[in-house]
Amino acid sequence: MISLLVNGRTYAVDARPGDTLLRVLRDRLGLTGSKEACSRGECGACTVLVGGVPVVSCMHLASLVRGEVTTIEGLAEAARDLREAFADRGAFQCGFCTPGQIVRASALVREPGPPDERTVRLEMAGNVCRCTGYTQIVDAVLEVWRRRSGASIVPHQTTAHR
Ligand code: FES
Ligand code: FES
Repeated sequence: MISLLVNGRTYAVDARPGDTLLRVLRDRLGLTGSKEACSRGECGACTVLVGGVPVVSCMHLASLVRGEVTTIEGLAEAARDLREAFADRGAFQCGFCTPGQIVRASALVREPGPPDERTVRLEMAGNVCRCTGYTQIVDAVLEVWRRRSGASIVPHQTTAHR
């Protein structure tokens, strides 16, 4: 039996030694917002926060997790502006990668900045999207980061390396 603090609530979970955090979240706790795609730490679909830091939950054993876990379900209010920006900018199509994208972005937009496109691209590089081509995702995250950090919002320029 292990104890996990998830989205502000403590759970006692009968986890096997080899159970990943992702398996426990989805199969035991019914928190299916975190998605499973590659199962080897390469796509970011399963991203959650542990102690406020983004981690890929498919690569962490549940029994070794220390600190509060925050999933996309736990960010319903805290990431409302990100969700709205993703919707407004068309930053998802099938939506499978979106929970992981928003969880990772939620950590980035807490940083004081200054917001810049290069940092967004670097920080979000571990989250793969097969649909959007990334431009809309970067634009959405940058918009929210600028707004939160109080940076002036200037029209985003299309750059050659997109
Ligand atoms: S499912 Fe965890 S990184 Fe792909
Ligand atoms: S919106 Fe389909 S994988 Fe990203």
